[in-house]
Amino acid sequence: METMRRTKIVDVLKSTDFGATVNVRGWVRTHRSSKAVDFIALNDGSTIKNVQIVVNTSTTDEQTLRQITTGSCLSVTGTLVESQGKGQSVEIQCKDIKIYGLCGSDYPMQKKGQTFEYMRQYGHLRLRTNTFGAVFRIRHHMAIAIHQFFHDRGFFYFHTPIITASDAEGAGQMFQVTTQNLYDLKKDEKGKIKYDDDFFGKMTSLTVSGQLEGELGATSLGQIYTFGPTFRAENSNTPRHLAEFWMIEPEVAFIDLNDLMDLEEDFIKYCVQWALDHCQDDLEFLNSMIDKTLLERLRSVVSGSFKRLTYTEGIDILKEAVAQGHKFEFPVSWGMDLASEHERYLVEEHFKRPVIMTDYPKEIKAFYMKLNDDNKTVQGTDVLFPQIGEIIGGSVREEDYGKLMEQIEERHIPMKDMWWYLDTRKYGTCPHGGFGLGFERLILFVTGMQNIRDVVPFPRTPKNAEF
Ligand code: 4AD
Ligand code: MG
Repeated sequence: METMRRTKIVDVLKSTDFGATVNVRGWVRTHRSSKAVDFIALNDGSTIKNVQIVVNTSTTDEQTLRQITTGSCLSVTGTLVESQGKGQSVEIQCKDIKIYGLCGSDYPMQKKGQTFEYMRQYGHLRLRTNTFGAVFRIRHHMAIAIHQFFHDRGFFYFHTPIITASDAEGAGQMFQVTTQNLYDLKKDEKGKIKYDDDFFGKMTSLTVSGQLEGELGATSLGQIYTFGPTFRAENSNTPRHLAEFWMIEPEVAFIDLNDLMDLEEDFIKYCVQWALDHCQDDLEFLNSMIDKTLLERLRSVVSGSFKRLTYTEGIDILKEAVAQGHKFEFPVSWGMDLASEHERYLVEEHFKRPVIMTDYPKEIKAFYMKLNDDNKTVQGTDVLFPQIGEIIGGSVREEDYGKLMEQIEERHIPMKDMWWYLDTRKYGTCPHGGFGLGFERLILFVTGMQNIRDVVPFPRTPKNAEF
């Protein structure tokens, strides 16, 4: 019996080969006993749906049967039959059960209605629940969608380094990479750490963005995208920040601000539509269990157009809201960085749809953004989403060597490790631009989950690197 080939539950549920003998393997979701038969709902992760195993209690050792509780792992061989019960089309009349592993009553994932906060303590086991199964199947499909979108449009997948000596965002919130003995750091006369003996012979960190190297790729291959892990050491304990997250960064030669916004909008809509097309069962589950407005929200994003406006127009709307009596925690004035409450007001209350904001004051944006003729604003673009806030940050890049140097000097950015970046402006410079999409923020939106810690299998946040 045991040598029989396993069929995945997703395929069993689609089968109409009634009378055939099948073998399924998976984990017990529930086990109910009635007089003559037991019902075991088995799940193997291939789908959110369980297959029902019907066990005739007279033919199975009762002692064994009673030990099979939620979380136990089984191999079941039986006959595929049309189901009499509601909510399922097929079930398996059990002929043989092999127990791979029983699961004690102390199994932490068995109770219904456990909070996500509780489940985070069991990062190794929460994966086996329905919700996390749905989330991580969707996460997989989103990664495929992203590659498909760019591949279809002639972008090349370009790998940028994870260890870097440059600070792309100029914010300095980086994790250092070193092989130095931290108990015996070598310092110079001024007390500064000597990196000469360190592995790379200079100070290095985990990357905060692949953009700078991505720009090198775009000035060779025309249009590239990166998709990789990204690290930020900012101490942001919010439901939208991770210390380790994944970012997708397309970079395109000869693109202007309008085409860049079109690319951003097309990209997100494509991903959301992909989820609607490929993740129906999981989305329906999340819609019923997590957020009743999820499907409606996803459909409205793909069918409507995003609102485009400048930062200055946005500030005017926020000022008007204040004048009408709306209370914000942080005061509104031109030049300020928008707080999440401001972004969400514009998206959720004022426009009631995604917003693409452009032309920010240069002081609140990175050094590489293209300066407008007003000398005050830059061609940056953020995409703001309902419930998420910023999901994309991007810009047209400053391609003029002199202007770029001016920004670098104004900000006192140490450029000794970025000479190669400046060379792109020296040798055959070209207009170009790109953006970064936070993968987990996209997954937050698509799944309706509330906390970014629940859309990455093993979250890294301040004071937390368990699992
Ligand atoms: O706006 P950011 O900082 O832009 C860049 O890094 C540019 N180099 C992108 C580019 O133009 N190529 O980050 C881009 C996106 C944000 O909009 C957000 O979705 C996500 O990355 N992000 C984070 N996601 C999770 N946790 C964090 N700590 C994040 N910081 C940024
Ligand atoms: Mg940003």
